Amino acid sequence: MRPPDVTTCLVVDDEPRLRRVLVRLLEGDGFMCREAGSGVEALRELEREPVPLVISDLRMPEMDGVSLLREVVHRWPETAVIMVTAVAEVESAVACLQLGALDYLAKPFHLDEVRARVTQALDKRRLILENKSYQLHLEGRVQVQARRIEELFLEGVHALVHALEAKDAYTRGHSVRVANYAVGIARALGFDDEAVNTIALGAELHDLGKIGVSEVVLHKAGKLSDAEYLHIMEHPAIGARILGPLLKDAPIAIAIVRSHHERLDGRGLPDGLMGDAIPVEVRVVSVADAFDAMTSERPYRPGLPVARALQELELGQGIQFDGRVVAAFQHAFPEVADLPIPTPEPRPLRLPARAVDARRA
Ligand SMILES: [Fe+2]
Repeated sequence: MRPPDVTTCLVVDDEPRLRRVLVRLLEGDGFMCREAGSGVEALRELEREPVPLVISDLRMPEMDGVSLLREVVHRWPETAVIMVTAVAEVESAVACLQLGALDYLAKPFHLDEVRARVTQALDKRRLILENKSYQLHLEGRVQVQARRIEELFLEGVHALVHALEAKDAYTRGHSVRVANYAVGIARALGFDDEAVNTIALGAELHDLGKIGVSEVVLHKAGKLSDAEYLHIMEHPAIGARILGPLLKDAPIAIAIVRSHHERLDGRGLPDGLMGDAIPVEVRVVSVADAFDAMTSERPYRPGLPVARALQELELGQGIQFDGRVVAAFQHAFPEVADLPIPTPEPRPLRLPARAVDARRA
């Protein structure tokens, strides 16, 4: 058996005499050599067992050195190739370097030079391989870190969600249903997975700012005074403020939290945004939110019948709601008898992919 530290070299030349010169020199330096008399033969040898180093003549019948080089670079990228050229072929030699040869030897060559070039080429190869492996491991480490960051973020958000649940049990079921309606609408509108994911996240968290609303006002059974209404309606801005630092790479999710009570006619809160100034993802959640709010039963009032709630959505088209979003809702949930949906299991919260990438960078 060959000792592990012996490097094998494949010498390719159609002239046996020249091949022998190189083989003798390399074997004298501790290499183990294999020989091939043509490019085709060399490929067969490599298919049998790849080698770390190939030294190949440029001009050969059947398959020349350049074609062989291309094949080796493509199929055995970890193999170092040194091309042997005549002095007059320096331009071809440079072309070989561009194709991926690590070095070239001009004939007639001095044995010391061959030694130096071979050592250099193998050093280069080792560095390239080390670098590749480093990058591979680095990528792995970065991925682990990105996952950890995402976990930390989600732990933080879950802590907030639980805090709100303790304060207002209604919000949890509401948020999960709103997310479900919003995902159905988003899919009906043809949004891609990443956008759907962002909408689901924003919808799950849209009422999180109720953490900052007085419990007395939040649970008041009777009619709210103007001041109490305005106090409750601070929740979108509070939620966006709380989640801002956690979700700074997911601006659309934040927009959903801050703007889900905006109206197309500009009479919403907190910014009075109008029409297209309200991102479409937000308009999706507004419709889902309104439908769920209307159809859910609260301790102080029964839920509206589904048909009435659907009618309200239609009447609000172009005024409060985006007509295309209302149509997408009807398309996604066509069976009135199946509405309102039962409260589903919460989807696992996910950071939008772009936000994960931004955190990695
Ligand atoms: Fe809300």
